[in-house]
Amino acid sequence: MKVLLTGATGYIGSAVTEHLAAAGHQVVALTRSAEPRPGRAWYAQSVGDTADPASLAGAVTPDIDGVIHLAPPSGDEDVDAAVVEALAAPLRGTGRPFVYTSGVWVLGATGDAREVPEDTPTDPIGIVGYRPRIERRVLAEAAEGVRAAVVRPGIVYGRGGGIPAILVDRARGQGVPEYYGDEGVRWPTVHVDDLAELFVAAVERAGAGTVWHGVGEPAVPVRDLARAAGRAAGVLASPQAVPVEQAAEVFGPLFAEALALDQSVSGAAARTSLGWRPERPGAVAELVWGSYRPVEVFGAPDAPETDADVAAIRRLVAEVEHAQQNELADRFLSVFRRQDPVWTTGHGRRLSGFEEIETFTRKVLPGATAESTAVYDVERVLFLRPDVAAVNVRQQPVRHDGTRIAGRPEGRPFYILVKEDGTWRVGAAQNTVVAD
Ligand SMILES: NC(=O)c1ccc[n+]([C@@H]2O[C@H](COP(=O)([O-])OP(=O)(O)OC[C@H]3O[C@@H](n4cnc5c(N)ncnc54)[C@H](OP(=O)(O)O)[C@@H]3O)[C@@H](O)[C@H]2O)c1
Repeated sequence: MKVLLTGATGYIGSAVTEHLAAAGHQVVALTRSAEPRPGRAWYAQSVGDTADPASLAGAVTPDIDGVIHLAPPSGDEDVDAAVVEALAAPLRGTGRPFVYTSGVWVLGATGDAREVPEDTPTDPIGIVGYRPRIERRVLAEAAEGVRAAVVRPGIVYGRGGGIPAILVDRARGQGVPEYYGDEGVRWPTVHVDDLAELFVAAVERAGAGTVWHGVGEPAVPVRDLARAAGRAAGVLASPQAVPVEQAAEVFGPLFAEALALDQSVSGAAARTSLGWRPERPGAVAELVWGSYRPVEVFGAPDAPETDADVAAIRRLVAEVEHAQQNELADRFLSVFRRQDPVWTTGHGRRLSGFEEIETFTRKVLPGATAESTAVYDVERVLFLRPDVAAVNVRQQPVRHDGTRIAGRPEGRPFYILVKEDGTWRVGAAQNTVVAD
């Protein structure tokens, strides 16, 4: 399909572009300026401004097979309605798709009872006040022979961006992780690449007049997200609740209200009816182990295969942390290569061979975390060969609630990893206590 995409340069639009192209579609990006953007998987570029509906008059040419409208609202209901008119009118009577992007905030606070589905009456908060009316305007196009659909994303995360990046920046800036409003607030979330796949599914096969929640996890406690954002920022402290009034001074009252909104939203319909499979890591895992914490990478090309190897190496170190924190000897041992591994502990004891490492682990790990534990963060990966990596890790002592134990020294584990049969394992390891 040739798909006209508004908002194509944005956070979500960039991912949608890639997934549309990967699915074999041609993306015609509607951008405000004609300036070419090299490196994007666009088939063509068309100029238009959604603040000026008249500029969109010729955007949907007869060869356009469908439209995905991702550019944000203008703040003026009449302007947004005119944009829908300009983009949808050329599709009337064709059965071609028009996918409009709304958001879960149109549902308002959902209460505790259940994960709310798409047919729940809307109750928009201030920041999205008129958006349900634009949704209805879009859905009315179904009666005009347009395959009109609405996608309501949850809070989007991944690729180091979106609202969670604000939590990371704030934690770094304030020196303490923050969340807004009550401790019980929960956010429906979705990984940006999973969401992009939902847009592809919607433009390909969503029925006329349908609404879809783009939600991977229905209700993630913001306190957990704040703690994970702190970890991503290197701030290992207890998350702090910021009252909405105080948050309003930083973010403005409308966005502060949205950040403090408690929601539990179901994304089940898209899974069942569109075959959508959101399978990326959850929001907390992504903050702690994924794109929000850059890793320095050397010796390998800037390519998807390298990204996949770095992600696998991070998973291995996450496994070390999980096994240590939960005193799981078998899982800890599973990260080592069987053939002649060597490990020098932080106390300078050299363990040679799998058997020695196993005996030592089974002796010292049980009870090791009675008083405290540690977190492990990958900081630097040097690919010595495509299948051999030298990995610098930062190990920090923490309490069981994840807060840093002041005055206790850090460790600097160094691993030589080997990739065999597609799996990275530790061939050699050394830990060094940081003296100062
Ligand atoms: N991010 C979330 O968590 C989330 C959650 C729910 C719903 N949504 C909705 O998803 C949509 C996209 O969000 P996003 O996070 O990807 O936003 P974003 O990163 O700010 O991207 C906005 C995109 O819209 C384009 N745009 C802005 N004003 C425009 C105008 N007047 N005319 C034409 N294009 C314009 C921008 O182009 P330029 O390059 O020219 O600036 C950019 O490509 C929005 O409708 C948002 O409300 C987002």
